[in-house]
Amino acid sequence: PNVLILGAPGAGKGTQSSRIVEEFGVEHVTTGDALRANKDMDIGHLDTEYDTPRAYMEAGELVPDEVVNEIVKTALQEADGYVLDGYPRNPAQAEYLDEITDLDVVLHLDVAKEELVDRLTGRRVCDECGTNYHVEYDQPEEEGVCDECGGELIQRDDDTEETVRERLNVYEDNTVPVIEQYEGDDEFVRVDGERAPDAVWEDVRDAIAEKA
Ligand code: AP5
Ligand code: ZN
Repeated sequence: PNVLILGAPGAGKGTQSSRIVEEFGVEHVTTGDALRANKDMDIGHLDTEYDTPRAYMEAGELVPDEVVNEIVKTALQEADGYVLDGYPRNPAQAEYLDEITDLDVVLHLDVAKEELVDRLTGRRVCDECGTNYHVEYDQPEEEGVCDECGGELIQRDDDTEETVRERLNVYEDNTVPVIEQYEGDDEFVRVDGERAPDAVWEDVRDAIAEKA
């Protein structure tokens, strides 16, 4: 299936996407991870405000569409079924996506703003395998060490409170209108993301099984 997962920063897109990959055998296409892997790519020739993705990400701003559209196009072409996470984030990206692929399911993980700040500032990620933890809700067995691979747990550069607040503002202004556009479509399913990951997962899995 071709799955789109929408939601605010910290809504649990990465957490649920990992489970979708395991259950449905699709590719995880995530612009956030792709950009983190290419943080220092020189994009100065595009006549943009900053010269690298890193600078946008650390400010909590969107990386320019030209850069992100290209990443998504290539990744989707190579995938036989995918879960797309982190894209589209503004109406222009949504329009571009519509031109290059067909979606079977559009999920919206809905979580209230107050909870998001808490989830993101408390998040820790494995430096090696990318598994998510949380300092209160999802602790590893040994402090600072990944249960899955033994890697070191770190805080993302953009998970400081100031940058989190900016990311949430950018989301309100740019991405909420995108979600509103998808709302009337047959593929669209809203999922209450303000529950434990296992409960959220039941609804996510059922929605994909039903639509795809
Ligand atoms: P990106 O990496 O996409 O970050 P994001 O959208 O802000 O989403 P996150 O990864 O922070 O959150 P998530 O929803 O995956 O939540 P998670 O599962 O980790 O983007 C980063 C930056 O890259 C952007 O700011 C921008 O600069 C750039 N960028 C990316 N895409 C772009 C695009 N298309 N265009 C332009 N620029 C782009 O969960 C969060 C925490 O909560 C974890 O600690 C987790 O353990 C916990 N948690 C998860 N589920 C639950 C639950 N049900 N209950 C309690 N806790 C939970
Ligand atoms: Zn790990």
